[in-house]
Amino acid sequence: MELPAHQRERLARVNATEAPRSADPLHAEVMAQAGRTPGRPAVITAHRTLDYAELAARAHAVASALIRSGSVRGERVAVVMDKGWEQVVAVLGVLLAHGAYVPVDTTQPPLRRDTVLRDAGVRRVLTQSWLAPTLGLPPGTTALAVDTVEPATPGATAVDAPAAAPDDLTYVIYTSGSTGTPKGVMISHGAARNTVDDINARFDVGPDDRVLGLAQLGFDLSVYDIFGPLAVGGALVLPEAARRGDPAHWAALVAEHGVSLWNSVPAQLQMFHEYLRAEHAADTGRLRLAMLSGDWIPVTLPDAVRARVPGLSVVSLGGATEAAIWSIHHPIDTVDPGLGSIPYGRPLANQTFRVLDPLMRDCPEHVTGELYIGGAGLALGYLGDEQRTAERFVEHPRSGERLYRTGDMGRRLTDGGIEFLGRVDGQVKLNGHRVELAEVEAALQGHPAVRLAAAVVHDEGGSRRLVAFAETTRRAVPGALPAGWPDAVAERAARSTGGTGDVSDADVRTMCAALDESALLSMARLLRARGLFGTPDDAHTTDEIIAASGAVPAHHYLVRRWLTALAAAGRLTHDTATDRWHGLAPADEHDVRAVHERIDALEPVTGWGAALVRFHRDCEQHLGELLSGALPLRDLLFPEGRLETAAAAYRDNLISRYNNAAAIAAVRAIVAGHSGPDPVRVLEIGAGIGGTSAELILALAGHRVDYHFTDVSHFFLNAAQETFAAYPWVRYGLFDLNADPRAQGFRPNCADVVVAANVLHNAVHVGEMFDKLRELIAPGGCCAWTGWPSSTRAGRTPCCVPGLRQDRI
Ligand SMILES: C[S@@+](CC[C@H](N)C(=O)[O-])C[C@H]1O[C@@H](n2cnc3c(N)ncnc32)[C@H](O)[C@@H]1O
Repeated sequence: MELPAHQRERLARVNATEAPRSADPLHAEVMAQAGRTPGRPAVITAHRTLDYAELAARAHAVASALIRSGSVRGERVAVVMDKGWEQVVAVLGVLLAHGAYVPVDTTQPPLRRDTVLRDAGVRRVLTQSWLAPTLGLPPGTTALAVDTVEPATPGATAVDAPAAAPDDLTYVIYTSGSTGTPKGVMISHGAARNTVDDINARFDVGPDDRVLGLAQLGFDLSVYDIFGPLAVGGALVLPEAARRGDPAHWAALVAEHGVSLWNSVPAQLQMFHEYLRAEHAADTGRLRLAMLSGDWIPVTLPDAVRARVPGLSVVSLGGATEAAIWSIHHPIDTVDPGLGSIPYGRPLANQTFRVLDPLMRDCPEHVTGELYIGGAGLALGYLGDEQRTAERFVEHPRSGERLYRTGDMGRRLTDGGIEFLGRVDGQVKLNGHRVELAEVEAALQGHPAVRLAAAVVHDEGGSRRLVAFAETTRRAVPGALPAGWPDAVAERAARSTGGTGDVSDADVRTMCAALDESALLSMARLLRARGLFGTPDDAHTTDEIIAASGAVPAHHYLVRRWLTALAAAGRLTHDTATDRWHGLAPADEHDVRAVHERIDALEPVTGWGAALVRFHRDCEQHLGELLSGALPLRDLLFPEGRLETAAAAYRDNLISRYNNAAAIAAVRAIVAGHSGPDPVRVLEIGAGIGGTSAELILALAGHRVDYHFTDVSHFFLNAAQETFAAYPWVRYGLFDLNADPRAQGFRPNCADVVVAANVLHNAVHVGEMFDKLRELIAPGGCCAWTGWPSSTRAGRTPCCVPGLRQDRI
């Protein structure tokens, strides 16, 4: 279907950009200017100023030197330099010698630099004397330090050969490529000159204009910086190489040298603006025009800068390196703050913009399509890459027009302008540099430790950074558990409990019930002793009970839990409508004595552990002091710092023995089945007195293991270091399961097996705690834990101080 007639007309009108074009080479006006105004400043740096005469004399001398060394017409000569006047001399020298320049920034890694030099077939490099000795160029490449070349005598010209034709190559600029190899964009004299001339004419750039040359030579904004103002008798002000990114330096140069043109990516103007704002700097010299390109312009930026720099015109420029710097412009007047983005605008002189669908038909207005650039700015193609050139520089099937397929998305608006809508692919712009996310991802995935990678641009308050995520290569996963392992583990665990003869399930259940009862009686007695439930009619709210119990705030949760446990055991009634508790069952001395007798009788039969029974009883006796905080639990668990009582609880008790044996059997099976090249990384958390570790470490001896013994408390680490001194593969460290592992030096995926014996009840938030453990465990790894993750089952636990969390010792 055809576009409606009025849209066709509008499109034709917007693209009717024909204007006169010069057939002279890009550098012709600069050299002519040297004849017209030899004494005017041309290139200004912090330390010296080159007037037009010296600039021309030096450029001619470089051209002569190149030709003497054998450089031929059309040869590609690299400029590998720090920012400085030498770059301008070098670029002009190459063009005067009828060569094409290939800018290579010194900030690039040598590998990338050499790839570019090789790809461009470079044999001659222009550089600076301080860089020459350390360049380490590929074999067959010679370097000439431009600052050591004596200027030619005034008026002498290097070559008499005919001037470059409009289609002759002027420069090759390398951009990021999705395959990981940079691609060289070949721009002709005619293409670059068309853009430069248009900008100069459009914005009245004249002899009084000076541009601040912020762009690197390898970024095509620098083409305008050199050939724009210098073509009309203006000047280029260059920052010092080392202070290229320092807005204080820029501000000083702007004020001191009367800079009138700003040409940068939006991020640099933003930095400049921030500096002016923070320093209350008032002198912005003669700044009159800011040209912003290379990235999205924050919608608030133009007005914000204008508030600091009165009278400043701000213009958005867009395009592609493949179409000679810029192809589209939009003067930014007052910005509607509700606008999502700054309009992309209308084409420059002798250039066209089309929004095409996949069949290369013009999209109707407001319909999104891919942006194509046509006209005088188009590159000659990609150096040495015909296939890619054919892919990106296409002929329109109907009009026959040569077009560059940008990979950008956009749509035409009813005012004839274009709105930019981002990329078709993963290419992004960062500080004006094109970055193919695929190139970054490919490089990351090339590392053996990386399995998958994804790169994105992270926008943080206007400052954009490249961020990459990687999933590490799966280590050879510790061997899968052998078939039937649960039975084997259970059998091993059952054996562990048989030390004192046959233990029947019934005896164990009776013992557990007796311990529960003993605990419940002690709770009830404490509440009574606090004056609660004195008569059968007494009823109290939860808050009243907590207040009367004398519990410190840290133990309020415990009182709530006791109430629930008492109610679950039928010893207390709760009226949920009024939140009142009543009917606490009696708990007299006689009941207590009776249950203690039952426990004492069952202890040897079940092998429960006499020390643990004693500990329970101590806790019951001192329940009030424990609750009020007058007596820390540790004084009962570690009397005078001794470990026996705790050992009785976590190691010698029937249930601990069972749990420990099960955990040990499981971990040992995992470790024994591991066949990868690296040791299995075992991380034990809350290892404490080593109730589990003592036997586990012994069981793992002889296998390839890296065992990290951790606890929240230092107290246990010293003792463990002594106990396990014979096992050099055991390391020791602090770890708090309630704190961020990374902040404690524990990286994601740092463990194959996490062992958590009787410790997870210390989690303040169970879900978050498991999230942390999941992050620590490498893909394919596992967690062996015993005990309840929280103490919500207080009513069932045989410990008489249910849920009392142990303080850090
Ligand atoms: C009941 S003990 C168990 C000790 C050992 N796993 C055993 O079975 O013998 C609980 C251990 O967890 C530790 N712990 C307490 N809070 C912790 C936390 N937030 N992070 C890590 N460990 C903690 C204590 O220091 C104590 O050593």
